[in-house]
Amino acid sequence: MANRKGIILAGGQGTRLHPITLGISKQLLPIYDKPMIYYPITVLMHSDIRDIAIITTPEDQAQFQRMLGDGSQWGINFTYLEQPSPDGLAQAYLLAEKFLDGAPSAMVLGDNIFFGHGLPELLGGANRRKTGGTVFGYRVADPERYGVIGFDDTGKVTSIIEKPKVPPSHYAVTGLYYLDGTAPERAKTIEKSARGELEITSLLETYLLEGKLNVEQMGRGYAWLDTGTHASLLDAGNFVRTLSERQGQQVGSPDEIAYDKEWISAQDLARRAEKFRKSNYGTYLQSLLAPSAHY
Ligand code: DAU
Repeated sequence: MANRKGIILAGGQGTRLHPITLGISKQLLPIYDKPMIYYPITVLMHSDIRDIAIITTPEDQAQFQRMLGDGSQWGINFTYLEQPSPDGLAQAYLLAEKFLDGAPSAMVLGDNIFFGHGLPELLGGANRRKTGGTVFGYRVADPERYGVIGFDDTGKVTSIIEKPKVPPSHYAVTGLYYLDGTAPERAKTIEKSARGELEITSLLETYLLEGKLNVEQMGRGYAWLDTGTHASLLDAGNFVRTLSERQGQQVGSPDEIAYDKEWISAQDLARRAEKFRKSNYGTYLQSLLAPSAHY
């Protein structure tokens, strides 16, 4: 079976962050010391996914290309696709159908940030499941803002509802979807919702109805950070700053992961460190090259 491919959905108008996002895409905004999209990229890299489509608005595509290039700096490959208008998350599978070419996929929203010890292992389980789909349920205080999971008395998942007025539980579905190669075909069968979008929850429902949807719990030891408001954006930045300054280690560095996985050589990393020598990020990359880096 074909290797799993990645999709990063990074379109949308970012209207909730206006006026900041009038001139720049939301997913390129900083989360402390790195652009927001670095974080979802590292999630896919943790799953050993090296072939990634980045879906953006047509207007913003050039900025993403300038920022991220073709991916070779991290030993991966980016394909850029356009979403002319934000018609819903499930549309990504229609736009990426050719790119996927029947392969299973992991899609992550370009504004979702995950952090937690054991995350690569959690993702590994989803990655290995070749048929059906896997999504992650995360307990939140305000489930009505998300896709929400409904359970029966035995704890079995019975529904996933987009932004319900009366949420059936506190478990939101995170913006990370591991789906098999049938996702594009399924996306063709779903209808637009009342708000005019092809909802990801409708696509997930097709899997659920066939008993093919795994809902994994992402427990309280993980951070799934919101970047949807000015306040939560700042909080996410502070979270990354607090952790990385305390530990002297980066959160969400694609360069570090690429080097750890041996997708790039020490020489490649040294070149990146040199490129960023005037920023702390460059100093950090340089420090990874020292023999004592792991101690
Ligand atoms: O973050 C997780 C949640 O993401 C899920 O729980 C929900 O089920 C899912 O619908 C989604 O909810 P949001 O309210 O966060 O969706 P939003 O419209 O804000 O879009 C999420 C990101 O995807 C955002 O950065 C913009 C981008 N996007 C959105 C749409 C609708 C696109 O690139 N294209 C689109 O067509």
